[in-house]
This record gives sequence, structure tokens and C-alpha cells, in this order.
Amino acid sequence: MIRSVVRGFGASLPKRVMTNSEMEEKVDTSDEWIVQRTGIRQRHIAGEGETTASLGEAAARAALDKAGLTAADLDVIIVATSTPDNTFPATAVNIQNRLGMHHGAAFDVQAVCSGFIYAVATADAYIRGGLARRVLVIGAETFSRILDWNDRTTCVLFGDGAGAIVLEAQEGSGTTADRGVLTAQLRSDGAHKEKLYVDGGPSTTGTVGHLRMEGREVFKHAVGMITDVIEAAFDATGTTAEDLDWLVPHQANRRIIDGSARKLGIPLDKVVVTVDLHGNTSAASIPLALNVAASDGRIKQGDLVLLEAMGGGFTWGSILLRW
Ligand code: UT7
Repeated sequence: MIRSVVRGFGASLPKRVMTNSEMEEKVDTSDEWIVQRTGIRQRHIAGEGETTASLGEAAARAALDKAGLTAADLDVIIVATSTPDNTFPATAVNIQNRLGMHHGAAFDVQAVCSGFIYAVATADAYIRGGLARRVLVIGAETFSRILDWNDRTTCVLFGDGAGAIVLEAQEGSGTTADRGVLTAQLRSDGAHKEKLYVDGGPSTTGTVGHLRMEGREVFKHAVGMITDVIEAAFDATGTTAEDLDWLVPHQANRRIIDGSARKLGIPLDKVVVTVDLHGNTSAASIPLALNVAASDGRIKQGDLVLLEAMGGGFTWGSILLRW
């Protein structure tokens, strides 16, 4: 059985770090409120010349280096983003060109904060279906550019950055002892589309628009949706919370992360948390967190790793993989 195995990982963050105390100068908020309600202490904000494609390119180069590969070795590039450099072409083709790659295919996936989960699931389907042997999967965002910087209920929450992994076809035995993606669980429900959305777009206002969120409403649904897709991943593979080495959640809010882990009986010392450093970077948050925990030696080859996310749409999903 063909499995999609992680061969390399990398990330890139904008140079500029913005602390909560700098936020206090912009809107009526406090470091205490932000830390207590979200766990966020700082975020990176893209500066002049830094865009979703430039951050994605840097993350991609780091992942290719780690894998010992070049763009010539890739078949497909998939970029998860809700903040593309342009409405079209896809940010993926922009990055493809920046990498000097002129073969294969490149396209974007748009599932907001669940984007990386959707992109990995798509890459895995391409690989297992024989359409590609190596896929570069990138989550890249510049949410700072769609924030309403006068709205304290949203502008304190988000940050910019990019992370990437290279997935490669490898023969497995078909058991959960295999390295690679073991299951992908995807969900969406557009009935919730107005709870977290951008109030503009090419076909409506002709403008880019700003992010709008009913935070409390999103929060209310988050833990239930996250635990639903995690339990589905356990059911699909016959694994349990005890088998996990690491939970790498989407980093929106420390309270959502802790609540989901507690509900599933996953000890907090097995949970990778980077929301304090990066804020919510939407589709970039999981690959950024993976990069931190794999670089500092926490995630090791052979570890069972669970990824999960929930966000605008709503969309939600999980990936269980052996590193
Ligand atoms: O990644 C996609 C998924 N997104 C999420 O997962 C976000 C989900 N939602 C959340 O994380 C939380 O709902 C928030 C962090 C957005 C808000 O936390 P909360 O505990 O739900 O707060 P709240 O919205 O109920 O607001 C509590 C109070 C309000 O004041 P009153 O009405 O009680 O007087 C807000 O006006 O906090 C006030 N408030 C703030 N105060 C200081 C809202 N934003 C701020 C702020 N600074 N930045």
C-alpha cells in the first residue's frame, strides 16, 4: 500500500514581531486580557516586500533542503491560503515560478484555518491515487493585511507566517505501523459561513474586505467539532488517545486547545503549543507548529502525530500520521 510520508519540513516568519503591549497602543486592549483569553503573547507581522508567496517560498526552500530535494524532484505544489498575493493566479503557481519549477502542477486550496488539513488530505489522495510521487504542501498567510486594525475583537488574534512539508510516496504494509498519513477526516458546514468571514471579494464588492468574526459563536462550536474529527480518526485507524505521541492542533486559542485535549484525555505535555509565539496564523499554524516541534527534537521519526483544525466555513478536519 502506498503511503504519503513526510520527507522534509520548514517554515518562515516575517521579521517583525508585534507584542501585546504594542497592541495596547493601537486598540483598547491589554496584555492581560489577550493572554488570559487566548494565550497569545506576540505575533509576526509581514513588512514591506513580505507576502504570502515570499513567506511560502522561504518555507518551501527550507522543507526542500531538509528533504535533500530540489523543486525538480516535485510533481505537485499545493498551497493552503485565504490571503493569496492576487485573486488569481494561485499563490501556488507564484511559488512554483519562484522555485524555478516549470513542470508538474500547482494550485491553491481554500479552507481558511483548516486549509493545511485539506491540503495534506488532497496531497495524500494524489499520492495514493498515483497522480504524484512527491507533493510540496504549504500553508502560508498574511492575515495582517485583511484585519480591521480598529476592531479589538479580531486584530489582536491573528499573525502572519508560512510552513511547509514535502510528502513522498513510500510503500507501506497497510497497518498503523506504517510511516505516513494514516487517515484524513474532512468536514464542512456552510450554514455557519457568516460567523467567520471576510466582508469583501471579487464577485461581491470588488474589494478585498476585512475579516469579521463572532468569536463567542466560533468558540462555542470549536471543541465539539475538533473532538468529532479526532474521534473519527481514532475510529478509522483503531487507535486511541494513549497511542498518540503528539497532538499538533491549529493554534487559534489556548483555551480551545486545552479544552479539546482534556475532553479527549490527551495529556497537555503531548500537545504542541505555539499560539503564544505566532498568534493565529490560519492555514500556516499547523506547519509552523510542526516545524518548531520537529526542529527542537520533540517529534521524532516513527512518532504518531495527530493534526486538527477548525475555522471559517465552518470547516474542520484531522490528519493522523506517523512521522
Ligand atoms: O481560527 C479560526 C477559529 N477561530 C477561533 O477559534 C476563535 C474563537 N473564539 C475565541 O477564541 C474567543 O471567543 C475570543 C478570544 C475571540 C474572545 O474570547 P471570549 O472569552 O469569547 O470573549 P467575548 O467575545 O465573550 O468578550 C468578552 C469581553 C467583551 O466585553 P463585555 O461585553 O463582556 O463587556 C468584549 O467586548 O471582552 C471584550 N473584548 C476585549 N477586551 C479587551 C473583546 N476583545 C477584547 C480585547 N481586549 N481585544
